[in-house]
Amino acid sequence: MGTNPIWGDDWPQVRQGWLLDREVAHCNHGSFGAVPAHVLEAQDKIRRQMAVNPMRWFVRELPGLVTAARAEVAGFLGAVADDLAFVSNVSAGVSAIAQSLPLRAGDEVLSSDHAYGAVSYALDRLCARTGARRVIATVPYHSTDEEVLAAFAGQCTERTRLVVVDQVTSATARRFPVGDIARLAHRAGALVLVDGAHAPGMLALDVPGLGADFWVGNLHKWACAPAGSGALWVAPHCQDRIRSLVVSWGEPDGYPASFDLVGTDDLSAWLATPEALRALGALGWDRVRAHNEALAGWAQSRVAEILGVPPGDLRHDRDLSMTLVRLPPGSVGSREQARKFQDLLAERGVEAAVGYWNGRGSIRLSAQVYNQPADYERLAAGARDLLAR
Ligand SMILES: Cc1ncc(COP(=O)(O)O)c(C=O)c1O
Repeated sequence: MGTNPIWGDDWPQVRQGWLLDREVAHCNHGSFGAVPAHVLEAQDKIRRQMAVNPMRWFVRELPGLVTAARAEVAGFLGAVADDLAFVSNVSAGVSAIAQSLPLRAGDEVLSSDHAYGAVSYALDRLCARTGARRVIATVPYHSTDEEVLAAFAGQCTERTRLVVVDQVTSATARRFPVGDIARLAHRAGALVLVDGAHAPGMLALDVPGLGADFWVGNLHKWACAPAGSGALWVAPHCQDRIRSLVVSWGEPDGYPASFDLVGTDDLSAWLATPEALRALGALGWDRVRAHNEALAGWAQSRVAEILGVPPGDLRHDRDLSMTLVRLPPGSVGSREQARKFQDLLAERGVEAAVGYWNGRGSIRLSAQVYNQPADYERLAAGARDLLAR
């Protein structure tokens, strides 16, 4: 069964809570999350309730249940229900914002070179639709919070209308000083959208306290909700301009009620999200977070040691359940090669996020409570073999 001294003696019981294939080392929680078995059961129960009487479900039960689930998720994020909408995922939330903003030619949209690819495409489309210009702040991998802030400040002008900033970056597993960047953007008169895809569950959150205008996060990553559970928070002063992507019967109701009605759809992921919050909450959020941060740090040191990556090349931003090990220069030379490396690791029974960012390959290590140190030993051994070929 294995052990995990970082979690403690009760780790085997915790591991039992997930259906994840035991033959595989699952080192990439960050991309898609993983759902505890009993949360899936709760979701299944919801689906059965829908199946036994669709009329009762969609007409009389669903609206109240979505409102109640939204209120619970809002509480978890430190927000009020009236400021929060469910969305399927961060991609959908960002798309709704991008679709709603009335930018003009000459306006600028600022983000960094750490932005998630799909989010970046949404901003491209926003600019193509409105004639606005994309501006990218270059943020070196090894940079302090002050340097990150300076990189954004250097590109923020009176033309900047929207600043998009990652709370936790995907490609580089970094944490950005979101509050400082929001203040800077507001001083320049720009709106601020925070991509908090990895934040719910990983970080203790006070979303309104970030001082942004829009925030989007996934519950299906670090809060272990079923796939398709995201949240969009909009500051009260911006709510009248935000429209849901799907136009349905809630259209006259505005934000956030219009987001509750997305045509006929299976909303069981949203409704099962409070069960996921309770499941992780029962383990103790502080304990979960402290464990994940410690295991991610341990994994990074161990993998780096085995691959011969110097300690000076490592960074682990505070509170993060993900760390990065950059591969030796030249070993992975393109996105395609990173994908190939990832596939070859999978053939060795290791699921990991192998990326390519700014000319360097990397392995991103995620640590969740079902992981154990042996997972990363296996990853490191596989990666060492592949690098030696
Ligand atoms: C920083 C960041 N933004 C956005 C997304 C997109 O999330 P989703 O695929 O759930 O829409 C991800 C997914 O990994 C991400 O890491």
